[in-house]
Amino acid sequence: MSSYVRDILSRYDLDNLSIATLASHSSLQIVHGAKKEGFRTLLVVTDDRLWFYRQFRHLVDDFVVVKRWSELCSEDVIEALRKRNSIFVPHGSFIEYVGIECATRLPIPIFGLRSLFPVEADQHAKMRLLGSAGIPIPRVYSVDEEPGGLVIVKLPGAKGGRGYFIASSKGEIVQGLRKLLDEGVVRSVDGVMVQEYLVGVTAYFHYFYSPVLDRLEITGADIRYESDVDGLRRIPVKKLLELGLEPTFTVVGNIPVVLRESIMPVVMDYGARFVEATKTQLPPGVIGPFCLEAVIGRDTGVRVFEFSGRIVAGTNLYIDGSPYTYLYWDEPMSVGRRISREVKLALERGVLEKVVT
Ligand SMILES: Nc1ncnc2c1ncn2[C@@H]1O[C@H](COP(=O)(O)OP(=O)(O)O)[C@@H](O)[C@H]1O
Ligand SMILES: [Mg+2]
Repeated sequence: MSSYVRDILSRYDLDNLSIATLASHSSLQIVHGAKKEGFRTLLVVTDDRLWFYRQFRHLVDDFVVVKRWSELCSEDVIEALRKRNSIFVPHGSFIEYVGIECATRLPIPIFGLRSLFPVEADQHAKMRLLGSAGIPIPRVYSVDEEPGGLVIVKLPGAKGGRGYFIASSKGEIVQGLRKLLDEGVVRSVDGVMVQEYLVGVTAYFHYFYSPVLDRLEITGADIRYESDVDGLRRIPVKKLLELGLEPTFTVVGNIPVVLRESIMPVVMDYGARFVEATKTQLPPGVIGPFCLEAVIGRDTGVRVFEFSGRIVAGTNLYIDGSPYTYLYWDEPMSVGRRISREVKLALERGVLEKVVT
């Protein structure tokens, strides 16, 4: 924890903390869990969404209304958050909404590892971290290399929607990139990532690392339902060829999955490697929820193509706990609630500085 954050915390009334987040993504789960643990809650909400979040007034003590998400870093909003002794919980949409600059400098104690944000914002840095952790990853090619098979080409900022495409040769990669530029889908191809396309089933593993208990917990797993890559299988292959459609990977929802138990030791091992790598490279290391995004191939080999260092929306499936959280807690424990439980445990032990940065 920086001395700056320590200084803000020293002026907080620790008996009256608020758990705060942006009204989106997994915010209802986060405030629901915070209430269960006895905290006050605060949502920063855009004015067009206020009517919706007001339906859940019983879960939200304070709304801070903004016109645009970027106002999070404005003086007024910071002041409102501090007045309520807020611990801010960054969720999956956080950086996308407020931008990396505001996310990194937000002068409010953050539940999580701030120094992981810039790594998450850079696809190459992300893959380097996973690789150095000893987690199996897909092969990464440079743009001017002839790939040895099928690849997925990811443009920064494209977010799985238009801007990701599948190719099988250098010629196709160059052609695909030119098309995206010509159509104005992207303005530049800087930072493009060419990754081996993994054949298998996708699975997204949810974890929670507790610095207070020094324990890694598996909290769940999900499958992302992505349009239209998941819809294309409903069309006969012959017709698909006629259409020549490029699949897109925009998440529209999450489907629960319970993993074959023999895969669990592998999942746990990869999670532990991730924790260790962040401890070494970005001390004090990951705090709270994170997710490894993987493809499980033939022979149940697991390879990880991306990670998220924050709570993912797939955890919304398990607001009453998952088959895994029951093994640790034996009570309904969503990840939202687990975050607040960690804050509570840290407070009780006088080690709040272990869970905020
Ligand atoms: N190496 C890969 N092999 C197969 N499918 C992939 C690979 N990388 C990504 N995908 C598919 O594309 C989706 C989006 O890719 P991802 O790297 O997670 O980007 P983002 O989440 O930022 O949109 C994934 O959820 C998955 O369905
Ligand atoms: Mg992803």
